[in-house]
Amino acid sequence: MFASLSAGLALLPFVLGAVHDIRVGQEGKLLFEPEAIFAQPGDQVVFHFYPKNHTVTQSSFADPCGPKDGGFNSGFQPVAANQTDHLPTYTITVNNTDPIWAYCAQAARTPNTHCGKGMVFSVNCGPDGAPNSFTNFKNSALAVGEALAGAAATPAASTTAAYGDLTIPAAPVPTPVTKVITLQASTWTTTYGSYPNSPDPTPATLEGKVHRVIVGGSNGNIFEPSRITALPRDTVVFEFRQKNHTVTQSSFEDPCRPLSADAQSGFDSGFIPVADSLTEFPTWNYTVKDTAPVWAYCRQGNHCGAGMVFAINSDESSGRSFNAFKSVAQTLNGTAASQTTPTNTPENGAVSTRSGFALGFGAVAALLLSLL
Ligand SMILES: *[C@@H]1O[C@H](CO)[C@@H](O)[C@H](O)[C@H]1NC(C)=O
Ligand SMILES: *[C@@H]1O[C@H](CO)[C@@H](O)[C@H](O)[C@H]1NC(C)=O
Ligand SMILES: *[C@@H]1O[C@H](CO)[C@@H](O)[C@H](O)[C@H]1NC(C)=O
Ligand SMILES: *[C@@H]1O[C@H](CO)[C@@H](O)[C@H](O)[C@H]1NC(C)=O
Ligand SMILES: *[C@@H]1O[C@H](CO)[C@@H](O)[C@H](O)[C@H]1NC(C)=O
Ligand SMILES: *[C@@H]1O[C@H](CO)[C@@H](O)[C@H](O)[C@H]1NC(C)=O
Repeated sequence: MFASLSAGLALLPFVLGAVHDIRVGQEGKLLFEPEAIFAQPGDQVVFHFYPKNHTVTQSSFADPCGPKDGGFNSGFQPVAANQTDHLPTYTITVNNTDPIWAYCAQAARTPNTHCGKGMVFSVNCGPDGAPNSFTNFKNSALAVGEALAGAAATPAASTTAAYGDLTIPAAPVPTPVTKVITLQASTWTTTYGSYPNSPDPTPATLEGKVHRVIVGGSNGNIFEPSRITALPRDTVVFEFRQKNHTVTQSSFEDPCRPLSADAQSGFDSGFIPVADSLTEFPTWNYTVKDTAPVWAYCRQGNHCGAGMVFAINSDESSGRSFNAFKSVAQTLNGTAASQTTPTNTPENGAVSTRSGFALGFGAVAALLLSLL
């Protein structure tokens, strides 16, 4: 009796080591519960994995969502949504009083990162207010998640033109805006996609303003002015002078072909030939609908490749300025393009090297980094 009792006493530190049960992802929550515990050397921490597919992986305070070299790792524990008992477990033994930091490695380094959504755990963290408090650890994990989500939400820096392997700045992403507009005695609500640096959607007047654009004539094969800022309801009066031009809507990535997007076609004046003898000039009018950038060109011959393009509300502070648009047209359809194979790179054309919109190495490197 006495002998067996002493044997029991000898085992006491292990037998009496406390067991801490931690629920991992209970009710679908991206949490360890409890998320911070204090434990003595010899205590065991048992992780119970609830439905979904989590891990408990040791990390460090400095890198909350990355595995610690030589640290423990339960591996992925997939649990079916309808499983309620016989949940898988993983047990660690606390060997000393040093802090232990851990996280769930599911979707690591992606915007869906469980760790970055706060699924972290610690044993023997510093007290509240200490640099290595659990709050500081969790906040730094959340910051990792925010950075990953932010990188994903940032639009790509560049894309490619419709043909010609030309790298161009990516399209701006419009922000949906709902606005109450009051003009004279009228008030209405409009919901529109607000483009970066686009003008306010409030029309200048109920009838809108008139913008006159001279097409061709003694100016040569250009639109004059070639870029305007206009508000909804404004009328752009294209006044066709001598020769035989069109004004045809296109897109920034495909400047010299008619716009055809979402089963919709853009506007097109058709060819408007003007005899040399004429002194009264035909007009063709376009009513501005919103503040989104509008791109257009002349369909005649190779006028587009020679730079006969036009823009409404181009964002001049962005990579998609009017001059950048003109350069894309010249690069894709200009003489440089026609002298080389259709798959030539912009570097081969003199136009692109002086175009000013070609992305620098840094921007491309940043793009590549953002994809990692
Ligand atoms: C669990 O997650 C890992 C990592 O995302 C994945 O490789 C694995 O296929 C998942 N298991 C199941 C059963 O979904
Ligand atoms: C869970 O659902 C699967 C497929 O629907 C089924 O095969 C399995 O028997 C279910 N398990 C339990 C524990 O209900
Ligand atoms: C405690 O020590 C054991 C044996 O060396 C080791 O396997 C285990 O990972 C250690 N526990 C922790 C939390 O590091
Ligand atoms: C520009 O080039 C493309 C591709 O070669 C061609 O399809 C298009 O018709 C050209 N546009 C003009 C206006 O010449
Ligand atoms: C104007 O140009 C178009 C396209 O090149 C052509 O079909 C049409 O005959 C021209 N009109 C005149 C009057 O030259
Ligand atoms: C275009 O608008 C102007 C100014 O409102 C007008 O004088 C002209 O007749 C219009 N042209 C056409 C073709 O409707």
